[in-house]
Amino acid sequence: MVALVPLLFLQAAFGASVASQRSFRIDYAHDGFLKDGKPFRYISGSIHYSRVPQYYWKDRLLKMKMAGLDAIQTYVPWNFHEPKPGAYSFSGDRDLEHFLQLAEEIGLLVILRAGPYICGEWDMGGLPAWLLEKESIVLRSSDPDYLAAVERWMGILLPKMKPHLYHNGGPIIMVQVENEYGSYFACDFDYLRYLQSLFRRHLGSEVVLFTTDGASKTFLRCGALQGLYATVDFGPGGNVTAAFLHQRRSEPKGPLVNSEFYTGWLDHWGHQHITISASIVAKSLSDILAHGANVNMYMFIGGTNFGYWNGANMPYSAQPTSYDYDAPLSEAGDLTEKYFAIREVIGMYKELPEGPIPPTTPKFSYGKVALQKVGTVRSLLNDLSPSGPVKSIYPLTFVQLKQYFGFILYRTKLPRNCSENTTLLTLFDGIHDRAYVSVNGVSQGVLSRRDVLKLNITGNAGAYLDLLVENTGGVNFGRYNNDFKGLVSNITLGGEILTDWEMYPLDIDNVVSQGLRNETGNTSSNEGPTFYTGSFSIPSGIPDLPQDTYVQFPGWTKGQIWINSFNLGRYWPARGPQVTLFVPSNILVSSFPNNVTVLELESSPCGTQKCLIEFVDRPNINASFHYESDSQKLFSRDLGLDLDYV
Ligand SMILES: *[C@@H]1O[C@H](CO)[C@@H](O)[C@H](O)[C@H]1NC(C)=O
Ligand SMILES: *[C@@H]1O[C@H](CO)[C@@H](O)[C@H](O)[C@H]1NC(C)=O
Ligand SMILES: *[C@@H]1O[C@H](CO)[C@@H](O)[C@H](O)[C@H]1NC(C)=O
Ligand SMILES: *[C@@H]1O[C@H](CO)[C@@H](O)[C@H](O)[C@H]1NC(C)=O
Ligand SMILES: *[C@@H]1O[C@H](CO)[C@@H](O)[C@H](O)[C@H]1NC(C)=O
Ligand SMILES: *[C@@H]1O[C@H](CO)[C@@H](O)[C@H](O)[C@H]1NC(C)=O
Ligand SMILES: *[C@@H]1O[C@H](CO)[C@@H](O)[C@H](O)[C@H]1NC(C)=O
Ligand SMILES: *[C@@H]1O[C@H](CO)[C@@H](O)[C@H](O)[C@H]1NC(C)=O
Ligand SMILES: *[C@@H]1O[C@H](CO)[C@@H](O)[C@H](O)[C@H]1NC(C)=O
Repeated sequence: MVALVPLLFLQAAFGASVASQRSFRIDYAHDGFLKDGKPFRYISGSIHYSRVPQYYWKDRLLKMKMAGLDAIQTYVPWNFHEPKPGAYSFSGDRDLEHFLQLAEEIGLLVILRAGPYICGEWDMGGLPAWLLEKESIVLRSSDPDYLAAVERWMGILLPKMKPHLYHNGGPIIMVQVENEYGSYFACDFDYLRYLQSLFRRHLGSEVVLFTTDGASKTFLRCGALQGLYATVDFGPGGNVTAAFLHQRRSEPKGPLVNSEFYTGWLDHWGHQHITISASIVAKSLSDILAHGANVNMYMFIGGTNFGYWNGANMPYSAQPTSYDYDAPLSEAGDLTEKYFAIREVIGMYKELPEGPIPPTTPKFSYGKVALQKVGTVRSLLNDLSPSGPVKSIYPLTFVQLKQYFGFILYRTKLPRNCSENTTLLTLFDGIHDRAYVSVNGVSQGVLSRRDVLKLNITGNAGAYLDLLVENTGGVNFGRYNNDFKGLVSNITLGGEILTDWEMYPLDIDNVVSQGLRNETGNTSSNEGPTFYTGSFSIPSGIPDLPQDTYVQFPGWTKGQIWINSFNLGRYWPARGPQVTLFVPSNILVSSFPNNVTVLELESSPCGTQKCLIEFVDRPNINASFHYESDSQKLFSRDLGLDLDYV
């Protein structure tokens, strides 16, 4: 807190000196924006700094600038910056202020989507899981505990943002309050009013604050608030005039703004990879620009859900590691046909910047890398769970155990002999989200949310029944955003509720970074979730290495991979559609061997085939998928392609 004093002092001095020259306002009389007193229309693109390594921020921003964009739009994911209550992180890939400075240096304005909720297919829509420590909390409402946390967070974030506002000499022209609030059930205007006054208190009266909602009467009803400029979002292929009429109902005068014009769409594990053709996107973009409207393309570059950051939709279905989005710049920042189609459209409405477009970065296939087993979760349990188990008669959730991501091992003993098949059953769909089940280390199968609710097991009385439970991503949209993880209801064996649990929170990322001990002496085959390690060196004598690459998992099933301790994300080739994971060059080194750690949760090829992963120079995120589900249609709600425009 003490450190804030000189910072605030600096900001005040800095702000005052430039305030008079620079301004950004809404011009209600002429249905537009005024920048420095002159009419201004923006063409913007979304990039989430949290989905691109800092190393590549400049490259991606330059490519956006060279496409003819005036501005970029980014979300601020709260849980990325406050992983534990009161513990803040703003360095490295989280250095938001550095990102803003780069945008400014490159000549891009910034539209800041400050939250607190962002959706964005990001874990829990950016809300920290620790908010659920109050079990009855109503997120995104006037719940006093929720507001207290928001107040504290915004008291850290917004003062950092203030010197970066346009009229204070920075690139931020507009700040979004909340996100698509009209799609949420609560419809709590006191909450929106509270946020409005909180944002004003920290940012002052001059900055343009805005909201964004789906272009329909239903969504704008609870999403818009007097004093926050209401904008809409809609995708290509529809009737642009009709879509903007919805904005006009809330804002009879002022600029037309589409804050999320969808250049592609999101994916889910087990569903087909979605693409939207460049020509449809280009045509609708041209239509929007011909209306004199302002537009932000969502996404201009999607990037990657590294680590555990992907979200999920309901009925529960998690998003994959790639957030490529079929955007004009690929996940790896590659220039695509869509990039050039969009650039050409922009060139019809404004002058494009002179100079070269940064080229697509080269990719390298480092080839096959042999892995070796180092131990199972079970054999390494004491290392992985330094805090040891928490005991409880009935199971506790992740948040009760203060574990917000990753994995917890739930262990109990079989209360009786189960020599015949005995059914392990989750009541009320209570496995959030997947449980890898074993008895005395012998794998029994997988239970999974909304999918597999029961399993037959066998084993003797007193044997350890282990459920390694994976949080596969917090629900990011809608009413079920308060997504508790772990065993969230009781589980029965042969009809009796299992009791006397020992729960081991696992600190896997930390242990991986310190190096896993070799515990293979203590394990046999078929022992459930298992760690493998290996290494590879960057070949010498080839210029400009290391370069970006993709890793694939032939014969592997589902798990997590770290390279040099960087948590690259989840792989699940057995389900698809994503098969390769993007490996940015900045996590690789040429001076030492690069260390790979894989946690395979289900089944590896290592016993029977070759125990290999492979680094290739081409992505594959559109393979066939292996999951039967009727829920795909339910996700089209925000596709924007088929919204009710009437
Ligand atoms: C688009 O919508 C506008 C306003 O509702 C309507 O006047 C126009 O006919 C529509 N255009 C098409 C091609 O349907
Ligand atoms: C672990 O130890 C076993 C023998 O105890 C050995 O065969 C194996 O290569 C070791 N694995 C690694 C990754 O060092
Ligand atoms: C369970 O089975 C084992 C051997 O299969 C037997 O020794 C033991 O007595 C049985 N226990 C109970 C409680 O039936
Ligand atoms: C469990 O085993 C019983 C008896 O062997 C069998 O009837 C049932 O289909 C099995 N259930 C599952 C989910 O495999
Ligand atoms: C036990 O259940 C499994 C499925 O979980 C089934 O494949 C197997 O046939 C069953 N065994 C018996 C003896 O019923
Ligand atoms: C489990 O069952 C017990 C006894 O019925 C109950 O008190 C407890 O609340 C249940 N726990 C959960 C997480 O549902
Ligand atoms: C094997 O595991 C046991 C506990 O499960 C531990 O006491 C023992 O030290 C381990 N042995 C080796 C060789 O690591
Ligand atoms: C990989 O692990 C080895 C052995 O622990 C270590 O010496 C080396 O520095 C590691 N490489 C990197 C890039 O961290
Ligand atoms: C996947 O995308 C690539 C590159 O766009 C394309 O060549 C290929 O046909 C696609 N495969 C499938 C199965 O759609």
